Amino acid sequence: MSVTTRRWRLRGRPSELIRTDDFYLDEVTLPTLGAGEVLTRPLFLSIDPYLAKFMREWQGPQAEWSEGIIVGRTVSRVIESNSERFQAGDLVLCNAHWQDVDVRPEAELNRIRASAMPASAYLGILGSSGLTAWVGVTQVLNAQAGQTLTVSAAAGTVGSIVGQIAKQLGCKVIGIAGGAGKCAYVVEECGFDACIDYKSADFEQRLAAAVPNGVDLHFENVGARMLDAAIAVANPHATIALCGLIAHYQDDRPIALARFRDLLYKSITIKPFHFVHFESTFGLARKQLSSWLADGQLTFRETIIEGLEHAPEAYVGMLKGDGVGKHLVKVGD
Ligand SMILES: NC(=O)c1ccc[n+]([C@@H]2O[C@H](COP(=O)([O-])OP(=O)(O)OC[C@H]3O[C@@H](n4cnc5c(N)ncnc54)[C@H](OP(=O)(O)O)[C@@H]3O)[C@@H](O)[C@H]2O)c1
Repeated sequence: MSVTTRRWRLRGRPSELIRTDDFYLDEVTLPTLGAGEVLTRPLFLSIDPYLAKFMREWQGPQAEWSEGIIVGRTVSRVIESNSERFQAGDLVLCNAHWQDVDVRPEAELNRIRASAMPASAYLGILGSSGLTAWVGVTQVLNAQAGQTLTVSAAAGTVGSIVGQIAKQLGCKVIGIAGGAGKCAYVVEECGFDACIDYKSADFEQRLAAAVPNGVDLHFENVGARMLDAAIAVANPHATIALCGLIAHYQDDRPIALARFRDLLYKSITIKPFHFVHFESTFGLARKQLSSWLADGQLTFRETIIEGLEHAPEAYVGMLKGDGVGKHLVKVGD
């Protein structure tokens, strides 16, 4: 029996900022299951900043990007299986198209074991966001008790976990986020020492006032404006983990740092990293994150948009700064 599904794809290359009308909903008939393939239904699509680059360039790790077909991370349920390794009902992590149902090869599936955590957490705190935060704080910055750490996009999924891990390790943690509501979340729920609203007119002065002894470690998620602010308050020999540049994913213009000279004058080290290069540490990271979660020492929030038909709004909203924590689209059950 042939199965048809809705599928999001791009009309063309987004010219400026990605907008909802850059996407359109196609309808496709899926191929019949081959050997080792399974039919999956996404429960959640992961709304991730890194996809913006692939959307703009029509180029990504999967060949389908060259046709403007979106492939992102999902938690999916196997609904039919032609694989000996997976059965109908299994929950899996996999890259999949933004569609109602999909055909995936067994080699691309990772089974999620039954756990006290909701399935969506495997795209956030127990998935790449948690791993990225853990790797950045413990392996890249090597954070130590008594140090002061700042982090941008502090109300986002990676940033909120970064600060909480650093607090566990005994650091003083200052977040940077957009708006009073987000700053309140970062301090009151995530337990940061302070959070500075970068949209306030006196942002840099307020940041300086929050770190009278300067900053030893900075975790960058956003881009040049935040980096400049961090460099201004950095101590000599400070270390910056360069994790993301979300403010610059939607254009190709050169990125200029006003305080570039201070990198030299203060002997600041910038360490760009990609979490996938730290795979040997993932076992330890998952163990520590799960243990902190179980003890109630880590908290997380999710911004969930219901319905595949709203995926473009969810994506554009995430880029604009709507919502806190992990951004997801709920597709099925
Ligand atoms: N290196 C790695 O291995 C790795 C892995 C995963 C993610 N990342 C990167 O980590 C960063 C955070 O990812 P995430 O998934 O946790 O996303 P996120 O922080 O949950 O969501 C994006 C947030 O970025 C902020 N933002 C967006 N545009 C901005 C701008 N122009 N200026 C200031 N803030 C802006 C917004 O927060 P406000 O409302 O506070 O502005 C928005 O809510 C991204 O850059 C991502 O690409 C890197």
